[in-house]
Amino acid sequence: MISGVVALTKDVLIRPVVLDDAEALARAHRRNRAHLAPWDPARTAAFFTTEGQAERVMAQLAEGREGRSAHWVLVSAGEIIGHAALSNIVLGPVRSANLGYWIDAEHVGRGLASAAARHVCEAADGQLGLHRVEAGTLLHNTASQRVLAKCGFEEYGIAPGYLFINGAWRDHRLFQKILNDRPA
Ligand SMILES: CC(C)(COP(=O)(O)OP(=O)(O)OC[C@H]1O[C@@H](n2cnc3c(N)ncnc32)[C@H](O)[C@@H]1OP(=O)(O)O)[C@@H](O)C(=O)NCCC(=O)NCCS
Repeated sequence: MISGVVALTKDVLIRPVVLDDAEALARAHRRNRAHLAPWDPARTAAFFTTEGQAERVMAQLAEGREGRSAHWVLVSAGEIIGHAALSNIVLGPVRSANLGYWIDAEHVGRGLASAAARHVCEAADGQLGLHRVEAGTLLHNTASQRVLAKCGFEEYGIAPGYLFINGAWRDHRLFQKILNDRPA
């Protein structure tokens, strides 16, 4: 399980998601529908409602208790302006997870995704005891590739037809960051 509230800037903090975030998450997804659509799986109408987000957060919290994923929100002036997550957490000799993130269109270009990704990698190492974090980006997602490069991720290949995004199976560039050399 993850914990802790950390200031990323003087007016933006990052903390684990809680059920009470559902309404603000629904608002954030409605505000950012067009901004995120090219990079996200297809969303149902329910996804943009408080009830839909509450269901999603409950599933995320249950996965968190089982050590299968971890979800954070970025908060500014009481509104959610971003999200970061580690999904597909695997232990054993792998000790790895997949990193994902988005930032509200009004707040991009402020270094927030990079600061969030750094925070998540620290938690992956220190709180979750992982060895490695990986991330995949669409071939043309240069902003996300830049975030990963700034956080010390290295590209290790291209996966054809890797994820079903925006209506089709899309090739992705794959990146990884080795966090430590502790034995598994
Ligand atoms: C990708 C995303 C998370 C970046 O968030 P952000 O808070 O703006 O990221 P940062 O400010 O930390 O860093 C962005 C970097 O990309 C650069 N960048 C932004 N747009 C770019 C573009 N079109 N081409 C090249 N570089 C670009 C910025 O200049 C910055 O680099 P710099 O610090 O060297 O100047 C945000 O744009 C987003 O939410 N996009 C939609 C969802 C998404 O793509 N999620 C990731 C899926 S893999």
